[in-house]
Amino acid sequence: MRGSHTRMFIYLTAGILFIICVIGMLYYGYKTFYIEKNVAPSDEYAYHFALIGEETENDYWKRVEKGAREAAAEEDIYLEYVAPQKADNESALKLLDRMISSNVDGIITQGIEGQRFKDLVHKGNEKNLPIVAIDADIPESGRKAYVGSNNVDAGKRAGQAISNNTTGEQYVGIVMGRFDAINQQERIDGLKSEIDQHPRIHLVAKEKSDITETGAAQATYSLLKEHPEITALIGISALDGIGIVDGLHKIAPHKSIYIIGFGLLPETRALIQEDKINATIAQYPEKMGYNAVKIMVKLQGKTVLDKERFIDTDIIKKEDLPPSRGDDE
Ligand code: BGC
Repeated sequence: MRGSHTRMFIYLTAGILFIICVIGMLYYGYKTFYIEKNVAPSDEYAYHFALIGEETENDYWKRVEKGAREAAAEEDIYLEYVAPQKADNESALKLLDRMISSNVDGIITQGIEGQRFKDLVHKGNEKNLPIVAIDADIPESGRKAYVGSNNVDAGKRAGQAISNNTTGEQYVGIVMGRFDAINQQERIDGLKSEIDQHPRIHLVAKEKSDITETGAAQATYSLLKEHPEITALIGISALDGIGIVDGLHKIAPHKSIYIIGFGLLPETRALIQEDKINATIAQYPEKMGYNAVKIMVKLQGKTVLDKERFIDTDIIKKEDLPPSRGDDE
């Protein structure tokens, strides 16, 4: 009797554990990629485009999406937005591959360094499926066009913000989004080219934020711990400036550091108003999304001549802040 109770108890526990595992697998499997649910566009749309973002919950990409949706509404496009839950090249490449195999009429995606991206673009081209690079470019991949910042130039501008607005010896720490993001590398190249012209300005070290605010705060901590001589910090992806301010506030609230951010998200704007960020390089992600969809429409069945559409960047200090449209930039 006691034996059959014990067996019953073991079976029951094993059964419950099994059900928990299955639910866990389904949940985390779903969470690995965010895919919009209603993927079947109806006939009333002119075309079906896919936009692949770098990360689902990132405010910058939400703005790219917003601009893209605006253009999609104007052009009668069914726009599918997909993105890895956490930014990483491998997941983005898998999404791109999946989208190429689906029946979309065009794909808008970041350029990713390495042969795999080029092979995938080639696969798209073979199917006559135009691929437009957004935000980060690999010109030699065969992508049909690029829409985004001129990243080398944007980095140069960040360098100019330091050279024009500081005096005396400067020791600069960089907080960057990801080491393997081509646009981040290009911004650093541009930054170096400017700084190299000013012997009083020295690049000390760089750390990555994984494009999150908390990551940027941690990067700030490591930079200042390893290099207490730092006098200026530059964040070169959109949430880095915000994270730098937060990190600095916790670690060395009284240390005077010249801070440059990237982008003009509302929080960055507020920190400029409060004199906590000295300058930022505005990027206008909504314009990128908008223009990318417009170019993709032109590309249907054709090639376009303006293959590179650079969305301007601007150095913005407190006195240059444009009036807020509420939720933009
Ligand atoms: C970059 C994007 C990046 C974003 C992260 C922007 O400055 O252009 O590539 O995904 O920052 O917040």
